[in-house]
Amino acid sequence: MAQTSFIHLKEGGLFAESVSLETIANQFGTPTYVYSKNTLTHTFESFKKGLIGTDHLICFAVKANSNIAILNLFAKLGAGFDIVSGGELERVIYAGGDPKKIVFSGVGKTSKEIEAGLKANILCFNIESRSELLRINHIAKKLKQKAPISIRVNPDVDAKTHPYISTGLKDNKFGVDFSHALPLYLEASNMDHIDIKGIDCHIGSQITELKPFVDALDRVLSLTNELKKHKIHLSHIDIGGGIGICYQNESPPDFEKYTKEILKKIKDLKIKIIFEPGRALVGNSGVLLSKVEYLKQNGVKNFAIIDAAMNDLMRPALYDAYHEIKVVHESDEKAQSFDVVGPVCESGDFIAKNRMLSIKENDLVCIMSAGAYGMSMSSNYNSRGRPSEIMVDNDKIYEIRAREKSSDLFKLEKKLPD
Ligand code: LLP
Repeated sequence: MAQTSFIHLKEGGLFAESVSLETIANQFGTPTYVYSKNTLTHTFESFKKGLIGTDHLICFAVKANSNIAILNLFAKLGAGFDIVSGGELERVIYAGGDPKKIVFSGVGKTSKEIEAGLKANILCFNIESRSELLRINHIAKKLKQKAPISIRVNPDVDAKTHPYISTGLKDNKFGVDFSHALPLYLEASNMDHIDIKGIDCHIGSQITELKPFVDALDRVLSLTNELKKHKIHLSHIDIGGGIGICYQNESPPDFEKYTKEILKKIKDLKIKIIFEPGRALVGNSGVLLSKVEYLKQNGVKNFAIIDAAMNDLMRPALYDAYHEIKVVHESDEKAQSFDVVGPVCESGDFIAKNRMLSIKENDLVCIMSAGAYGMSMSSNYNSRGRPSEIMVDNDKIYEIRAREKSSDLFKLEKKLPD
């Protein structure tokens, strides 16, 4: 079922809630990310709906969108956070997130990051290797603390998603091999500075079927039972993130179905359930607003050169990902097939290929479903300042990140002495 979005066509063009995207372009320029606060809130609340009455925690995966205003909004709605770096830890705390609701994932946590997590008193480290476990035990000892941990197991299930974003197969770098997990738990249970809290898995991203989640949970539950036999009692199961959204014509499971399936399996266990959704909470709450600079024809191809590029939204170039393009004001132009490209000097700099569009130069276009892994994966390639970010709340407009100026880009650089 498609998730509700308040970014929609009305008479007079495309709107984010009650604000016309043209107004935003006039006020803040382009390219600009635009988010709808009510879509974010509505999406979070509908995820939560199926969990009422269950001991649960929704840890928003910060990597999907790390803007402070968005983190702050989720914190106020009661969310926890899934982080993967010291930088994300600082962001979440700065944004008002509760450290006791933070889970720390990632295969390469540095000693400094582990120390920061321990000092902040986070909920849990999701351990991805034996070496990491040993390191965390050592650092916790130095700090005279007990480190709360889960082991992220690799359940070896096929999430049936793009190979770059599949993480739960044997040949992925993530998690602890399923057959190594029990011995590692036993080893952890004998460590003086480790406090075993739970078990964790995350099998991939943009998953559009329920079955891989259920299969992964079955494996996790079998291990949880095995652990009980060894007197290791867990207080939570973290099932990771990964629920897909509709970019084009996918039909990902709706939240209600997803949570129902999961809860069905754990209802008798009296155990807290943790989720780490990223994309599903923000993907369809944001768009990238851009302007058509030039139309040009090369031989048989029509190109629409827009002012947003691969550095602003990397997903098409990196994964061949599909993002719908909408024209802010439909015009009478004859629809033609276009490759929609940016100004960056790479043939891989495209946003969309072979799209039928009725556009002319200076038209505003909207790249849809750009709220997740859009701004958070942007770069300054070609010395392009990153876009501004705007949050709309009914008829109010807030600039939640200013457009980067060229001077921002080189302020950390220094000339050599003469
Ligand atoms: N938990 C862990 C441990 C993760 O690695 C991820 C995402 C998530 C949760 C959140 O997954 P989500 O609910 O957003 O699917 N850049 C790619 C996606 C990479 C996902 C990486 N891990 C993209 O643009 O499609």
